[in-house]
Amino acid sequence: MRAWVKSVQQRGQRIALVPTMGFLHEGHLSLMREGGRRADVVAASIFVNPTQFGPKEDLSTYPRDAEGDLARCGSAGVFGVYMPEPSAVYPPGYQTYVNVEEVSRGLDGEKRPGHFRGVATVVAKLLALFRPEVALFGEKDYQQLQVITRLAADLELGVEIVGMPTIREKDGLAMSSRNSYLSAEERVRALALSRGLFAAQHRAAAGERDVSKLVALIRTELEGVQAREDYVEIVDASRLTSLSTLEEGAPARALIAAFVGKTRLIDNMALQLG
Ligand code: PAJ
Repeated sequence: MRAWVKSVQQRGQRIALVPTMGFLHEGHLSLMREGGRRADVVAASIFVNPTQFGPKEDLSTYPRDAEGDLARCGSAGVFGVYMPEPSAVYPPGYQTYVNVEEVSRGLDGEKRPGHFRGVATVVAKLLALFRPEVALFGEKDYQQLQVITRLAADLELGVEIVGMPTIREKDGLAMSSRNSYLSAEERVRALALSRGLFAAQHRAAAGERDVSKLVALIRTELEGVQAREDYVEIVDASRLTSLSTLEEGAPARALIAAFVGKTRLIDNMALQLG
């Protein structure tokens, strides 16, 4: 990989990197296409990163489709795909981890201890390997995007981190590789997440400042389909600190994690007052 990166750079070409865990959908492909608009060569990685999964999480069952993914990457204009074995990324004796402190703390950081340490570590390694001009990430994983933005700035990696909007199914469900776990019945119940967020977004736009009322609106949707809440929070959009009221000119974000059956789903949206 390093030799390939060197040869690209010697030709004076700029690399865009799109890290993924595979089982690619339109959300991933939108990042790849945008990479093609922002750089000369798009590289992707497909790696189900073991260090970001907790002991009781879905590492062993995470969906995979290497052949289909390579075809999808090709159609999205990706030039090369890095698909390492775990033992290549974490060989025997491996002992270096990256910890981004404050923005990793709440939300998924609290519910999935060690998750962002694993994410920050693998992303730091990928950025060090590819030395891209730009790396693209989805707002679907909003806290992850903030963690990686902080990581790149703090370590002065000289890469532009680009955040891209969440791609949704026509009915509102945020695209996710994990949607493949849902039964037909759960797939319908899962719409409560986006419905709750859209409702909060509309109510905020209509002037509701009270965060507890907006959170209650989201909870009602989740309860209506018996989705089990992991968290529902409305936070400052960049620091991710909790808010009690929305203020003009202070971007806020509503974030949800909830279980539909055994599947844990996340989603989030921007809230704008007035
Ligand atoms: P993965 O879940 O495969 O997602 C790869 C990238 O695609 C992430 O930046 C994610 O935010 C983005 N993405 C996922 N669903 C999206 C959607 N519906 N719309 C727009 N973008 C979407 O996130 C990871 O992998 C891993 O944590 C990784 C960053 C690769 C580190 O292992």
